[in-house]
Amino acid sequence: MTDPRMRAFRDRVGGLAYGGDYNPEQWDPGVWREDVRLMREAGVDLVSLGVFAWASLEPEPGRYEFGWLDEVMDLLHENGIAVNLATPTAAPPAWLSQRHPEVLPVMADGERFGFGNRLHYDPSSPVYREYAANITTRLAERYSFHPALAMWHISNEYGPTAYNAAASAGFRRWLQRRYGDLATLNEAWTTRFWGQVYTDWDQVEVPGVPRTWMNPSRILDFKRFTSDALLECFVAERDIVRSFRDDIPVVTNFMRFYRHADYWRWAPEEDAAALDIYPDPADPDAHVSAAFQFDLFRSLKGGRPWLLMEQAASAVSQWRLNVVKEPGRMRLGSLQAVSRGADSVMFFQWRAGRGGHERFHSAMLPHSGPDSRTFREVTALGREVGRLAPVAGTTTRAEVAVLFDWNGWWGLEEVWGLPRNDFSYVDTVMRHYRPLWEHHYAVDVVSTRSDLSSYKVLVVPNAYLMDDEGVAAVTEFARGGGTVVMSFFSGVVDACNRVRPDGYPGAFRRLIGAKIDEYWPARPGERFTVDFADGRTATADWWREDIHLEGGTALATYADGLLKGRAAVVANDFGAGRVVYFATLLEQDAFDRVLLGELRAAGVENRFDGLPAHLECAVREDDRHEYLFLLNHDAQASVAVPVDGHGTDLLTGLPASGEVTVPPLGAVVMRRARRV
Ligand code: GAL
Repeated sequence: MTDPRMRAFRDRVGGLAYGGDYNPEQWDPGVWREDVRLMREAGVDLVSLGVFAWASLEPEPGRYEFGWLDEVMDLLHENGIAVNLATPTAAPPAWLSQRHPEVLPVMADGERFGFGNRLHYDPSSPVYREYAANITTRLAERYSFHPALAMWHISNEYGPTAYNAAASAGFRRWLQRRYGDLATLNEAWTTRFWGQVYTDWDQVEVPGVPRTWMNPSRILDFKRFTSDALLECFVAERDIVRSFRDDIPVVTNFMRFYRHADYWRWAPEEDAAALDIYPDPADPDAHVSAAFQFDLFRSLKGGRPWLLMEQAASAVSQWRLNVVKEPGRMRLGSLQAVSRGADSVMFFQWRAGRGGHERFHSAMLPHSGPDSRTFREVTALGREVGRLAPVAGTTTRAEVAVLFDWNGWWGLEEVWGLPRNDFSYVDTVMRHYRPLWEHHYAVDVVSTRSDLSSYKVLVVPNAYLMDDEGVAAVTEFARGGGTVVMSFFSGVVDACNRVRPDGYPGAFRRLIGAKIDEYWPARPGERFTVDFADGRTATADWWREDIHLEGGTALATYADGLLKGRAAVVANDFGAGRVVYFATLLEQDAFDRVLLGELRAAGVENRFDGLPAHLECAVREDDRHEYLFLLNHDAQASVAVPVDGHGTDLLTGLPASGEVTVPPLGAVVMRRARRV
């Protein structure tokens, strides 16, 4: 993998980066010196600077105040702290919306989103883009060759969806590029239905709040357009900073399970995928969905290390109840990210703010100062992150892939009119991922465009909407010898949200070896019994399909109800491969048993079989070494883990062999010679 910019970055920070968002513009200069002294004490080597500083950098249009930033950049550099310099374009100053109210986004209901929030811009606004380009250019002119600069952080958590006139104009241009002419658009959107035929491009507008029901293909294309419009903003700023200097990595920070931007389309435009994640300490399962996110972020750029850009040192302040991270949890979550491919451990934020919405958000340096539990934990972690330097740049091998696709997500959740309209794509994905996590399988996350050739098993959760290339990729994977595990209501519509012809599931009828006559969503409270061919029984609910086998065989059938005797789980040999199709929502244990059985049958390696679920195991490796991460999520009991070979626990520097003990909420990172 050649990524010279990221390689240079790793060399620059000497391994894994450690630090957080730094907002010196919110503090008197007297505080900056103390900040830098304490940063050094905590082992900070990178800060994200100026994320929301536009108003401080350009207090009036065309009048710039860079003096404070010069001073901070110099101070950080003198103290060996590198800078991830942000373009401040997520927070346009008040004067911009006063001068050009049209930059403020109009919401779906037609209301203008006023100044005084954040992300108050319409990404399609040419005026916003012009001012954003200007401040980006000024920053790049001034700091591209500043010795502190190590990375560019473009904007922050791209996200607003806007319904302005500029968005409608942009939407039309986007549609013209996609469809060419109106006849093709009308066909793609099935506009003969309800007489919605367009005869002039100017009739096409962004979809606001539906007053009755809206055309689902229009909604779908609007999701795609919004993601692309935001991406254009990123690319424009990236290209500006690159035009000054092209050896510095350029990234932006993504969010956890963020529905409104298709990160598969974004990731190739960045030097590294970067994630902000705030697992809720009150949710005992938060680390499982965090693991999925970490696998996704490693996979977004084909297995390359990614950046943990923001997390909380303790509590956040944005939820109704914001509980603290108990002692040890922040360290464990950080090591968990590293175990799944992160090359940085960064926080929002360095110093807790005194005012503003986030005044109770935790920070590396809390309100109680350095003599505090959090600062002690942050400082201890900083030392450990330093010891993990050899892990930087290493990768992970997986034989199982889970499909995670934004188009499929939008198809399932953004448009009304399905047999049932309460699908949660995230829930279904997590139902498929959880057993893999609990049994310590290394998992990659894939899109319909990923190279699937290295996997033995492909898991496809409720893929209602898939384009023809995606269908071909899944089909070829099975034909070539892979095992596809697929859940109900998959392969139903094409990329334009039109039902595929010739019976359900149009895309996968041959693949699953069955035709579905009707989808039978369950009535509230309805449950079914399912008999497995091996004599076991299980319960199912939520969904059934009136399925008729066409070459496939029933792994399980309904034991009761009107579909008694019909298949509930189908297996089909396809080409050199195999397909297992779940036509109902099985109780989790029964689902897990079938899924894990398929993994074993496909010969997927499991080096950690038998270890308890709460002992998370993950491996990173390079040509010579592997790094075995053992993370104990249980707060009560230690786990003894037999390990083969001789190695060193990088966290303690002590030899590790035979059996290692992982204390409650503790971790071991064992380096040993690579197994081939
Ligand atoms: C992130 C954001 C930060 C801060 C943080 C609070 O979404 O990028 O600026 O607001 O959340 O958890």
